[in-house]
Amino acid sequence: MSTKPAVFVTRKLPDAVTARLGKSYQAQLNPEDRLLSPTDIVDGSGKMGADALLICPTDKMTPDLIQALPKSIRAIATFSVGHEHINLDAAKARGIVVTNTPDVLTDATADIALLLILGAARRASEGEQIVRGDQWNSWGTTYMLGVHVTGKRLGILGMGRIGQAVAKRARGFDMKIHYANRRRLPPDLEQGAIYHANPDDLLPHCDFLSINCPASPETYHFVNAARIAKLPDGAIVVNTARGTIVDDGALIAALKSRKLAAAGLDVYENEPKINPEYRTLPNTFLLPHLGSATVETRNGMGFKCLDNLDAFFGNRPPPDRLV
Ligand code: 8YV
Repeated sequence: MSTKPAVFVTRKLPDAVTARLGKSYQAQLNPEDRLLSPTDIVDGSGKMGADALLICPTDKMTPDLIQALPKSIRAIATFSVGHEHINLDAAKARGIVVTNTPDVLTDATADIALLLILGAARRASEGEQIVRGDQWNSWGTTYMLGVHVTGKRLGILGMGRIGQAVAKRARGFDMKIHYANRRRLPPDLEQGAIYHANPDDLLPHCDFLSINCPASPETYHFVNAARIAKLPDGAIVVNTARGTIVDDGALIAALKSRKLAAAGLDVYENEPKINPEYRTLPNTFLLPHLGSATVETRNGMGFKCLDNLDAFFGNRPPPDRLV
């Protein structure tokens, strides 16, 4: 009999992560990457006598599901920095340790935020469709004019690791950084960025608004009609955090009326079933949740899950313990 701890893995993992997992754990994998139902997770983890789960944000760990997990499960490692898909109170009540994967996806996600800023401002989606559709007929002095990025004001909602990495990149475009965060950063991290204690006060200063805060009951639909009205006319909104922070109806109305010049979105409420109106608007630049999607980053996230499990099963404190 194997003495390796048993890990039930809900989604297909990168090859390098699967290889390392197999060295230290007895693993039940999902190579077809089928989306598992709560019953699949309960039954599958029960059948193997799992000691831990390795999950992704596509697995909704509700209080009911956590209650129903086999008693053998003592740890859940999520392959994500976001953890709104896990009811931490329910996990804590069951004595299950939960870990996530901060830091390793900061740069990749900040890179995508800059891609969205540039893509939305410079009409990259429209331009690409014109070239790809063989509809490019001429060059003109007023052809396909976009919004200038260099030197503009960038408002960052949520100045954690990713928000700070977005600011660092935006400074390369001479953007002036404003931010809202629960706490003001110390001067060495703030680097001249202007702090707004009340996120509503940030909005009038945003030629661009980058959403980088976690999803929570407090941030649910934060970007709504009343707050969009506080943005300067012609502002651009980009979101690499979570779709639930934006009220889609309000954002779509503002894009249609041209109150907002454009939006760049990597995340959506109810993704991948996004509000279909986003697809019909010329002034959206849309990506399918690619924030952390590089080989290096996804390997790093998987290794972080394993570092946390190694620590837990080695009776050391997991570095990224949430509860
Ligand atoms: C990942 C993310 O795509 O880590 C997060 O919270 O949103 C993403 O960068 C996702 O976690 C993949 O599992």
